[in-house]
Amino acid sequence: MAEPSLHDLLRRRRSRRRFTTDPVDPARLERALQAAMRAPSGANAQPWEYVLIAPGPLRDRVRQACETADEEFHRRSPAWLQQFFADHEITPVKEFCHNAPWLVAVFGRRDLPFWLQSVWLSIANFILALEAEGLHSLTYTPTLGRDFNRLLGVNEEWSCQAVLPVGIGQHDEELRPRPRKGPAEKAHVVGPDGVLRPFQPALPFEP
Ligand SMILES: Cc1cc2nc3c(=O)[nH]c(=O)nc-3n(C[C@H](O)[C@H](O)[C@H](O)COP(=O)(O)O)c2cc1C
Repeated sequence: MAEPSLHDLLRRRRSRRRFTTDPVDPARLERALQAAMRAPSGANAQPWEYVLIAPGPLRDRVRQACETADEEFHRRSPAWLQQFFADHEITPVKEFCHNAPWLVAVFGRRDLPFWLQSVWLSIANFILALEAEGLHSLTYTPTLGRDFNRLLGVNEEWSCQAVLPVGIGQHDEELRPRPRKGPAEKAHVVGPDGVLRPFQPALPFEP
């Protein structure tokens, strides 16, 4: 079978919010971690730390921390965001924190230069590499403070950027269409005359 192209992978990857408990082949997860660590980073400082949390008693406390953070976030969200949550059946109840075979907490090292930009490039590599490995994930960003670091026993100066469930998505999860604007709307050109104009695409764009 032919390898999927980069664009096939980019289009195939979806945020998955319902996971099976099927185990993950360790080599697949490790290859995705390798991809995460090949991301470019400011001054090559590699300011990311990945913490893999296996199922177990600690996971219940992680779930509790995430749900408490999300209740507050949902409560404070503007109306349009609350509508997005309703449309996507996103509630503060995080079943996947319990179900998914792995929860991967990704931290940024605040003490290193360009840490925020760099850690997110690494996460982008990770979620795409998971897709290439036949695994699914959700870029989940609960607002977690230093209590969370203490819970995991990690350095209190690291900043948790995302908690990603990793595993196999439930086959019957309903994935809604995901609109995407293409280069015609999201790319721009400043010509030799110094005037900003919309980019003129020559290729079709399928979201
Ligand atoms: C920075 C970032 C934060 C996100 N936070 C959440 C989140 O907290 N909860 C959630 O369910 N989805 C979250 N998402 C997933 C987005 O809703 C999703 O990527 C978007 O709707 C596009 O769908 P797709 O990932 O299937 O292409 C987040 C995505 C990104 C990139």
